[in-house]
Amino acid sequence: AASGYTPASRRDTRYDCVATEERKCSALRKKYPNLRVMNQTAQLRAMLTIIRDRETRKEEFVFYADRIIRLLIEEALNELPFTIKTVTTPTDLVYEGVGFSERICGVSVVRAGESMEKGLTAVCRGIRIGKILIQRDEETTEAVLFYCKLPRDINERFVLLLDPMLASGGSICKAISVLVDHGVALEKIIFVNLVAAPEGLQQVFSIYPKIKIVCAAIDEGLNEMKFIVPGIGDFGDRYFGTN
Ligand code: URA
Repeated sequence: AASGYTPASRRDTRYDCVATEERKCSALRKKYPNLRVMNQTAQLRAMLTIIRDRETRKEEFVFYADRIIRLLIEEALNELPFTIKTVTTPTDLVYEGVGFSERICGVSVVRAGESMEKGLTAVCRGIRIGKILIQRDEETTEAVLFYCKLPRDINERFVLLLDPMLASGGSICKAISVLVDHGVALEKIIFVNLVAAPEGLQQVFSIYPKIKIVCAAIDEGLNEMKFIVPGIGDFGDRYFGTN
């Protein structure tokens, strides 16, 4: 370019990693028709790089995690149904647009999912948010429901289910079963997730193929401690400063 500057999206050799990531995601998108992975732009990858870095301090971690979460929620809203909506503009002309046609609510999986509530309320003013707390039974390793408080009319709403890390999928499957017990149709569940492990995707979609999953990144797998690798570490600890 005359200015000597080429945008990241046009430089293919230096940004090969972006293209590689995009290829990996597109294979998974084909395997799971209800999986939505955000476009792996250099900007998104740069923000993910900051929060993956173990040297990143809490304040910076929260700042960039919040930015990604906000983009992720906007992406998830694309999965909601729309109807045609016609308005008249100040120039006296009719504009044929669209409007949301269904009511929604959020449900966060405590504790890490609570980090996503701020982004959700910033985008969806006045949204109702329920909470589900699930813990693993140390002996049986089964995911057990400890606490649940949901909007009374949740069965009439689309649900944005919030949990930033999808590891083996045990607790999110339990959370989905709680929503189903409260009358929520699987087609109305959109799981909003920052980083997923392929094992978790496989687990959730094998049991609940009708739900949608919207995520920002898909990682390589799980280590022996069931942490996502390369991952982010313990998201809740890093976000809330309890590490
Ligand atoms: N939960 C986290 O916070 N991190 C992981 O890697 C897996 C589950």
